[in-house]
Amino acid sequence: MSLPPSFLDELRARTRVSAVVGQDVKLIKAGKEYKACCPFHSEKTPSFYVNDEKGFYHCFGCSAHGDAIGYLVDGRGMAFMDAVKELAAKAGMEVPAPDPQAKERAERRACLIDVTEAAADWFREQLDGIDGGAARNYCQGRGLSRATLDKFGIGYAPDAKGKLKKALDRFGVPKLIESGMLTAPEDREPYDRFRGRLMIPIRDPRGRTVAFGGRIIGDGEPKYLNSPDTPLFDKGRQLYNLDLAQQAARKADRIIVVEGYMDVIALDAAGIGEAVAPLGTAVTEAQLQLLWRLSETPILCFDGDAAGQKAAIRAAERALPLLGPQRSLSFVTLPEGQDPDDVVKAGGKAAFEAVLEKAEPLVERLWRHERDASPLNTPEERAGLKQRLFQHAKAIEDQGLAQLYREEWLKRFDALLGRGQQRGQARGGWQKRGGKWTPPPPPASAAARDIARTGIGGPQVAALLRGYALFPAALKDDVETLAELPISDPLLARTRDKLVDAAFSSESLDRDGIATILASDGLGAPSKSLLGFSFTRAGADEMQARQDLGAALGAIAAAAEVETALNEATTRFEAELSDEAFAEQQRLLTAKNEINERLASLSESD
Ligand code: UTP
Ligand code: MN
Repeated sequence: MSLPPSFLDELRARTRVSAVVGQDVKLIKAGKEYKACCPFHSEKTPSFYVNDEKGFYHCFGCSAHGDAIGYLVDGRGMAFMDAVKELAAKAGMEVPAPDPQAKERAERRACLIDVTEAAADWFREQLDGIDGGAARNYCQGRGLSRATLDKFGIGYAPDAKGKLKKALDRFGVPKLIESGMLTAPEDREPYDRFRGRLMIPIRDPRGRTVAFGGRIIGDGEPKYLNSPDTPLFDKGRQLYNLDLAQQAARKADRIIVVEGYMDVIALDAAGIGEAVAPLGTAVTEAQLQLLWRLSETPILCFDGDAAGQKAAIRAAERALPLLGPQRSLSFVTLPEGQDPDDVVKAGGKAAFEAVLEKAEPLVERLWRHERDASPLNTPEERAGLKQRLFQHAKAIEDQGLAQLYREEWLKRFDALLGRGQQRGQARGGWQKRGGKWTPPPPPASAAARDIARTGIGGPQVAALLRGYALFPAALKDDVETLAELPISDPLLARTRDKLVDAAFSSESLDRDGIATILASDGLGAPSKSLLGFSFTRAGADEMQARQDLGAALGAIAAAAEVETALNEATTRFEAELSDEAFAEQQRLLTAKNEINERLASLSESD
């Protein structure tokens, strides 16, 4: 007996995996997860994680993985239905009774397929018959070979109201209506839906004709007429040519999505069989799921015109919540005014392969779209760009991936605004004057850059700078570390820059000289700090103050580094849920506490 997916979803949503697993093993809280020694294999240190939010357990040791139902089946050896019944009882849900209508529906579908299959045969006969002359000419004009017409079962619906109705009357009018072959306006006799059109059978994944797309011969409106949604055909859940393309896709290790039936057919004729088309609608979630069964990164081709590009962005946005490590998209923008059919007509397979080579990953396509969506002349416009990108990242449900998208887009944002360059120039200046040290390479990851950009701030940094202003002799020892300190407060950062400049430029540094330099830029030594370090008092012992300054600077610089590493470890942990990432995160938290203690002891020392 099959259960409706909605029931199972609801059951999973109402069941906490930890409550089920926790009956068998002792769970230890670890961040958002629980961990335990794996019940599926023997181990001494826990590598088994339970995540209630995501509704699954995972063992990094033996790869055991599943949801609450899976745990009961695999872990306790229960039958699937028994597991469902037990969980449903706990969740206060009623297991749906077997559905007698489901069987009946299946039987009816089978009958209707007989109708659509028979219609396809009849249309094919018409294309070869006396009424099919103009249609045959049209096919010839479009370069459709006999082999292609046969492969795709293309036929012709004569321009008459009752020919199909008569030819297929053995099925009875109700079935002809239900299958979409007749149209039945109120108060009028049902008549043939498709008239004077080239008929393209739409097949289900098993290759059975379930619907039709009918193209007008020559010009006219509408250009394409499709079967209505019927018990056989739900256009949002099907893809044209999926049955043939899925075999080709496995061989070619890719799946291509184009906009039109004729594009699919032309690509196939050109030797590219792994193409499908949505059926005259925007790409739906259900279609994306079908595509991801065939390839991790389906290639979506859209017209270069405004409508095509809008469709591309819509598809990208639809995909965002569903993205995962093995689920993405790439985007091909066709030369304007050309569809895939035109491209292969003009340049054959090679021309289309060349277009495919320029495919952009989803991350790039959305970036380009948002970057070009509005000017970036004012801070508000630039903030708007960042906001739009972050909005997209937020739509990604996989949190680890969302973070990586944010980082990737921030990197591009910074590069676009020339951020990296400015930083480099500033350092270059110091380097030239000092001539002694080379700045370390900029932090590699975006998490690191986040710290670098927002930096550390607050009273500790203010106290530190006050110390260097009061005891400038210490600058000589510490200037390299001080220069690299990522300080978030712009005023404090400017004060630091001035102090660093002074250390590099003048021979003798004294308190008054520093005060003058700072004053020339409208700055002063940060005012007396609330924190009681030795160096924040002007009357402190010089040697003690210099020693404490060095120690405090070291601790603050280390704190910045640890904070950066901690951000990265946390991101990694969220993405991988791995033991290593977790251990690293814990180690860094310990290090952070130690540094804070070091700073606290310094401030109490006087
Ligand atoms: P196009 O207008 O790009 O058609 O529509 P095409 O594939 O290039 O067709 P030809 O080359 O002129 O014959 C793309 C797709 O949009 C749907 C069809 O699925 C079509 O293949 N469509 C288009 C409709 O459903 N109805 C229409 O009136 C037009
Ligand atoms: Mn076309």
